[in-house]
Amino acid sequence: MPEDNFWDITNKPQTKTKLKILNNYLFAWAKILASQKWCNQMYYIDCFAGRGKYNNEGIADSVLGSPLIAMEIAKIIKKKYNKDIRCIFIEEDKKIFLELQKFVSPYIEDGLHPELIYGNVNKKIEDVIKAVSGRDPVFFFIDPDGIKIDRGMLEKAMNIPNVAKEFLVTYICKGVERCYALGKKCDEDLPISIQKKAIGNLRRIQKFFGDDWKYLTKEEKGNLKIYLNIVADHNDKMDGKYKLGAKIIDICYNSGRNKYYLIFLSRNANAKGIIEDIYIKIKIDGTLFSSFSKRQQKEMFQGKFDI
Ligand SMILES: C[S@@+](CC[C@H](N)C(=O)[O-])C[C@H]1O[C@@H](n2cnc3c(N)ncnc32)[C@H](O)[C@@H]1O
Repeated sequence: MPEDNFWDITNKPQTKTKLKILNNYLFAWAKILASQKWCNQMYYIDCFAGRGKYNNEGIADSVLGSPLIAMEIAKIIKKKYNKDIRCIFIEEDKKIFLELQKFVSPYIEDGLHPELIYGNVNKKIEDVIKAVSGRDPVFFFIDPDGIKIDRGMLEKAMNIPNVAKEFLVTYICKGVERCYALGKKCDEDLPISIQKKAIGNLRRIQKFFGDDWKYLTKEEKGNLKIYLNIVADHNDKMDGKYKLGAKIIDICYNSGRNKYYLIFLSRNANAKGIIEDIYIKIKIDGTLFSSFSKRQQKEMFQGKFDI
């Protein structure tokens, strides 16, 4: 269970950035789809839902977390387009789950129908997949606090047949700072081995993560490999138009010593363009890293690219 102060984001610009990117992207995604005749409804699956609200600057429950961001967007889409975003929230901590239930209940009174699942997403994923199979687009938000994601879970989510699927996955190298001293002692360590070395694109990931990889714990390296290899394996099995492209968004902070990435997966090139635009706007509007020098800010935003 996350510590109690986990839900206070006063000093967590990276969480605020994540929420802003999620909000802006999800809204764009939903509006585009809702305006298409063929699209009857959409699914938003929040695999690590959390409690629904954050405390900020001494004000309790003042910032919406990912599930409530989705509910707000669902409310607008219902009103404007009369189409449903069917939201599914999975949370395994009982106390947090009950808080989420409380925060979600006003939306149910407003006529929305979110589904809340209490339990471990790695076990509940089958239920989720049964609920979404069909032709409706699905957006997965996968936001674990630590290393809590099974390879099987991600694979199953990616293998949902025949629907337009997109994924936003957070990846946090919390260990970078913690393991710095240890890492220095094992400079000879080999780079992350990526199964599909033949895929030139993936080799660039090693380049992207640069020196960071060697300061990660064994567990963190394993976790990173899981994410990257799953995409490679998935794409190996898929025909061209079904392959998922990835965009890695670097929202690092703390003068670049810690690392925090969003990994966006979609087979739609336009979608990657949209998230890129959102990211650039957030950069420009100055809400991010305003305490850093221009040079530092520029450095921080260099680490984004397509694979
Ligand atoms: C980073 S927080 C989620 C924050 C939320 N996505 C947001 O942006 O507002 C991760 C949440 O996942 C829950 N969790 C951890 N492991 C889980 C699992 N295996 N299945 C479902 N929920 C899990 C934790 O209790 C915690 O509330």
